[in-house]
Amino acid sequence: MLADLGYAPTNNPAASDMILLNTCSVRGGAEEKVYRRLANLRIYKRDGKKQIIAVGGCVAQQEGDGLLRKLPYVDLVIGTHNLHLLPEMVRGAEQGERRSETTFIDNDQRLDLFPAIKGESRLSRFVTVMQGCDNFCSYCIVPYVRGREISRRSADVLAEVRQLANEGVREVILLGQNVNSYGLKTGHEPSFADLIRLVAEIDGIDRIRFTTSHPKDMSDELISCFGDVPKLSSQIHLPAQSGSNSVLTLMGRGYTRESYLDKVRKLRAMRPDIVFTGDIIVGFPGETDVDFEQTLSLMEEIRYIDLFSFVYSPRPGTKAAELPDDQPRAVKMARLDRLMELQRRHTRELSQPYIGSTMSVLVEGEGKLPGQVSGKADIGRIVNFSGDSSLVGLFVDVKIIKAYPNSLLGER
Ligand code: 5AD
Ligand code: SF4
Repeated sequence: MLADLGYAPTNNPAASDMILLNTCSVRGGAEEKVYRRLANLRIYKRDGKKQIIAVGGCVAQQEGDGLLRKLPYVDLVIGTHNLHLLPEMVRGAEQGERRSETTFIDNDQRLDLFPAIKGESRLSRFVTVMQGCDNFCSYCIVPYVRGREISRRSADVLAEVRQLANEGVREVILLGQNVNSYGLKTGHEPSFADLIRLVAEIDGIDRIRFTTSHPKDMSDELISCFGDVPKLSSQIHLPAQSGSNSVLTLMGRGYTRESYLDKVRKLRAMRPDIVFTGDIIVGFPGETDVDFEQTLSLMEEIRYIDLFSFVYSPRPGTKAAELPDDQPRAVKMARLDRLMELQRRHTRELSQPYIGSTMSVLVEGEGKLPGQVSGKADIGRIVNFSGDSSLVGLFVDVKIIKAYPNSLLGER
């Protein structure tokens, strides 16, 4: 959007015409971080320099025009439903106008307001299929800062994917807070499983990923896609959050450890080489040692290839914030350490058997070292190998020769 207004990226903030902070508030500390960063950025604007300072994303949504009041050098505050106003807001700011827009927009008016995401990669792109969330997990601020769940029209999604395919994109990542509830609210749209099948019919798109799935909405129909849609990646991000049923209940997740494991079993039956990634929160209010051991044992049963783990962080306004945040910091950190240690072992143990195997890698650009190129394998792991830029954009068969914690090394 900014490119259309004549702006281009720069590495030099001091000389820039605009600084835009895109913010996240899913865990605490985000607001303070944003205020600290803004205080630091302020020095660039001294001496009456005409520079636009803008704040977007969830912290902007939360703080609203309070940001303009508290910080006289901030020009624009753009909420999560107001991105379409960015062009006129920037034009106004160029004339010295200060403005905050954080009004939520009703779902029936939002359908035409999904901006295309122009990522860095020419070959792999995110495509928004839905936004917002109605789940209200007790710890989570997303429903408050992103608003109600809305599914985009399938016709718009497919048109965007076709357009990307024409531009040479080979992989799409279907994006939403909870992609597998896609279309459920609307009624007249295809299910998420059908949407995947429709995307798979588009020539030129050879790999499809999606994120994030809520385990409770992982339908048999969607699971069956892993059996009969070869373009669907063999990696799935399926956040469990905890392995303890009592914690899951307090979190309001809508599934049990057993039903989660059941979905994993079904997915493995459909796609034996599938790999799982996930999210876990430690130190949720009331989490006992026994609860935590349950989380570790869930990890042992699943064996994630990669895991994002977080210390619970109370978010104002959420239901869990009313529960006593009763775990001492040291306990939370010790749990996180143990969990991460276990995860490092799993990543190592799961990666070793890939050595000697051949993977099809979509080459996206330069590798870690000179003379190397880099890309992603079907299982989502980064693979570096010797090769030149003529390989970029191709699926190349690569033999894996070494496994590192965050990537694999291969050779053609
Ligand atoms: N505290 C800690 N982690 C959280 N997440 C979401 N809200 C919180 C919170 N209040 C984590 C969840 C989610 C991921 C994006 O962030 O694991 O899946
Ligand atoms: Fe937050 Fe995800 Fe739960 Fe929605 S489903 S409330 S985004 S954790």
